[in-house]
This record gives sequence, structure tokens and C-alpha cells, in this order.
Amino acid sequence: MMIKLNNKLIVLGASLIASTLLTTTAFAATPSKSEDAPAGIYKAKKDALDGGVTYKREKGAYTAYKLNEQSTKGVNFGRAPTPNELKAWDADIMPDGTGLPDGQGSVAEGEELYDRDCVACHGEFGAGGKGYPTLSGGSLESLKNQRTCPGKDAPSRTIGSYWPQVSTLIWYIRDAMQYAHPKSYSPDEMYAVTAYLLAQNNITIDGEELDDDYVLDKEKIMKVVMPNRDGFYPDIDGPKGVENVKAFYKNPKNFGAQTGKRCMTNCGKESVMRIGNEITAVVPPYSTVRDLPKEDASKGAASSPAAKAYEKSCAVCHKTDTMGAPALGDKNAWNSVMTKGMDKVNHNAINGVGGMPPKGGAMNLSDDEVKDIVKYMVESSK
Ligand code: HEC
Ligand code: HEC
Repeated sequence: MMIKLNNKLIVLGASLIASTLLTTTAFAATPSKSEDAPAGIYKAKKDALDGGVTYKREKGAYTAYKLNEQSTKGVNFGRAPTPNELKAWDADIMPDGTGLPDGQGSVAEGEELYDRDCVACHGEFGAGGKGYPTLSGGSLESLKNQRTCPGKDAPSRTIGSYWPQVSTLIWYIRDAMQYAHPKSYSPDEMYAVTAYLLAQNNITIDGEELDDDYVLDKEKIMKVVMPNRDGFYPDIDGPKGVENVKAFYKNPKNFGAQTGKRCMTNCGKESVMRIGNEITAVVPPYSTVRDLPKEDASKGAASSPAAKAYEKSCAVCHKTDTMGAPALGDKNAWNSVMTKGMDKVNHNAINGVGGMPPKGGAMNLSDDEVKDIVKYMVESSK
């Protein structure tokens, strides 16, 4: 798992990051200021865990999903999407080359971009170690290990050891990274960073090593064979895909226990695959209360420029302590941060420390703006 949290928090953390990414990606075009937001979308206030959007329902209730207002008015098929709307939606990059942009970039150019935009979270050469996913190294052999098997190494899943298709990598870099600024790379930059990460994973193209001068482009990327390409089963690709799947599910040993016994109730240890360390409690416990907390009217400061900038660039990690960041309003956490003195704390916020990327990844902020936000965070946590 990507973040070093204790077991109980992993599920919470993972879903938090996933939903954060989802909102950043899916709503990339959503303006950050609520007054610019399309009708029906309300920016989360203090309520949502991930700083995502919430939608207003009747009687002051909110929901994470947009309600289809036409559902009560009978079926309405709307209108046909315009070609541009379709194009914006249909933007996958597929193993067969569909969606690959024209462009090119060298390993050396990729290294420069990586060191500027990615190293803060993914470590030197993609080696990880900062609490974010490791992007290089790993081994095919480790994939056979149980996920949580006490005393054994867990599978080490990196681009080189796990990803079956290189198209996913360039697609992921385009749509999700760098974190906080998805979809900000030009095609040339996408190829450059992809080339750099392939080189860090010792992946060759046509037998050629990817040295600094190697230039990756649309044709060459099609020749990449990822080490784990055949590691997924059943193999659903190709003309035999359907037969492979049928054969796979005919044999219960493939998806059940070693005994091959199917089981629907009171399944014993032998009949089902079990995860070694089951999650029995989550801290803090999931709330069963479904309505959102009332806004604290005394906190009028939420409209200051620093508060707005905080919501935009910092809340994604600092709203709770799930990411290992001192949470806004957590008196103890901030008291202990402040023992270093304001100068040092400002320095760390600007230059990064541990899992805290420089300026929280918002490189558009000036040093003074970051200091104002830090001041706001400290004041709000007294
Ligand atoms: C602010 C921190 C941050 C920065 C900066 C960042 N990433 Fe990430 N990256 C993440 C997080 C968090 C995830 C895990 C997201 C998830 O699994 O939901 C991730 C996941 C990834 C993955 C998928 C890893 C896997 O095995 O699932 C790739 C590839 C990646 N990042 C590449 C990049 C590249 C390339 C850059 C620079 C252009 C970059 N990242 C910058 C935080 C960051
Ligand atoms: C990608 C997640 C992330 C984002 C975005 C982020 N932070 Fe952080 N921040 C962290 C983490 C993790 C820590 C704890 C670092 C540590 O102590 O190892 C931290 C720590 C800090 C600290 C305490 C530094 C210290 O000396 O202990 C300050 C101040 C801070 N962040 C300010 C900000 C500001 C201001 C922003 C927005 C401009 C921001 N952060 C955005 C993750 C983030």
C-alpha cells in the first residue's frame, strides 16, 4: 500500500486518496470558486473529508452524488452529445495505441521534469520511501506472495514489476499526475517522463537500453513489452479471451481455496482465501450520522484569501491527519510543529519536509502567500 499507515487506517487512507484523485480528475474543469460553479454543484465547506464537491438536495440535505432531477419526470433522453463533448470524454490511451498523442521526449528531459514535479513524493529515481507509491524496482517473484502474510514480504508492485501495459503509464501521468495539477503536461512532457520512468525500471525497447539521450515517441512506445505483460490471468485479451475466461472459472481452485471447495456460508479457513490481518476496527470509527455538520458561524475567517488558498491547495492533505499531515484545528499537532519556531516551519512549508511537498505542490504560490497560509493554519489550530 502506498502510505505508511497502520493497518486499520489503510482502507480509509486509500479510499480518501482515490476519491481525491477522482474528484481532481473528473472535476478538473470545475472552477474552484463556488460562485463560478455550475448550477447544482456546491463546494464542500468544512464537511467533506476530501475537499470534493457535494450536491444540494431538498430540505438542506447534501449528497456526494448528483441527483438526476429528471428521474421523477419520466424518461428524457436529452440530446446527442456534440463531437467535442464526445472527444473530451473518450480520451483513453489504450494498449493498441488508441489515444496516444503525437510528440516525443528524451530520458534526460524526463529526468528534469521528474526532479521538478515528482521527486518530492516519489523519491529519487522513483525509489519511493516518502510514503507515496514506489515507481521503480520491485520484483516479479514477489508478486506471488500473499498480500498480508505475516513474516513474508508483501508483493512489491511497481511499474516495472506489475504494470502489464505501458499505455496505462502514460495515460496515468497525463490524467492523474502530478498530484494537485493533473492534465498539466504537454504530449512531449508526457513522453519524456514516461521515458525516464521506463529507464528507471530498466525496461528496454527493441533490445535497446534507454540511456539519457533516448527519445521516446509514438512509434517506439508501441514496441515496449512490459515484464509482467503475461502475469494477469485469465488472459482476456485476444481471440481466445472468452474461452480463457470460461476455462478459468470452471476450475474452482482458481478463485477459491486450495481445496477447490465452493462455499457460501460459514466458510472455513480452507475453503476461501483469507486475508491474514483482517480489519476489525477503524479509528476514528465510521460515522453512522448521515447529515453534515453545521457550519461554525464564528469562523468568519473562512473567507480570507489565506483561508481560500488553504482550501484550494492544502486542505486535500491537512483537513484530517490521514495523510500524516498536522490537521487544521488539531491543537496538539500544531503545538508540537511550532516547537521548531515559525521560521523553520515556514521554511519547511516552502521547501517541503517528509511527506509535505514543497509549497504543497502548488508551485504557483509565492513564498509570502505560503507564509500567510501557514499563519492561517496556525491561528486556526490554537
Ligand atoms: C504531492 C505528491 C505527488 C506528486 C508531486 C506526484 N505524485 Fe504520483 N502519486 C501520488 C499519490 C498519492 C499516488 C497514489 C494515488 C492512488 O493510488 O490513488 C501517486 C501515484 C502515482 C503513480 C501510480 C503508482 C502505482 O503504482 O499505482 C504514478 C505512475 C505516478 N504517481 C507518477 C507521478 C509522476 C510522473 C509525477 C510527476 C509528474 C508524480 N507522480 C507526482 C502523489 C504524488
Ligand atoms: C500532498 C499532501 C500535502 C499537501 C497538498 C500539503 N501538505 Fe503540508 N504537510 C503534509 C505532510 C505529510 C506534513 C507532515 C510532514 C512531516 O512532518 O514529515 C505536512 C506538514 C506541514 C507543515 C508543518 C511543517 C513542519 O515543520 O512540521 C506546514 C506548515 C504545512 N504542511 C503547510 C502546508 C501548506 C501551507 C500547504 C498548502 C500550500 C500544504 N501544507 C499542503 C502534506 C501536505
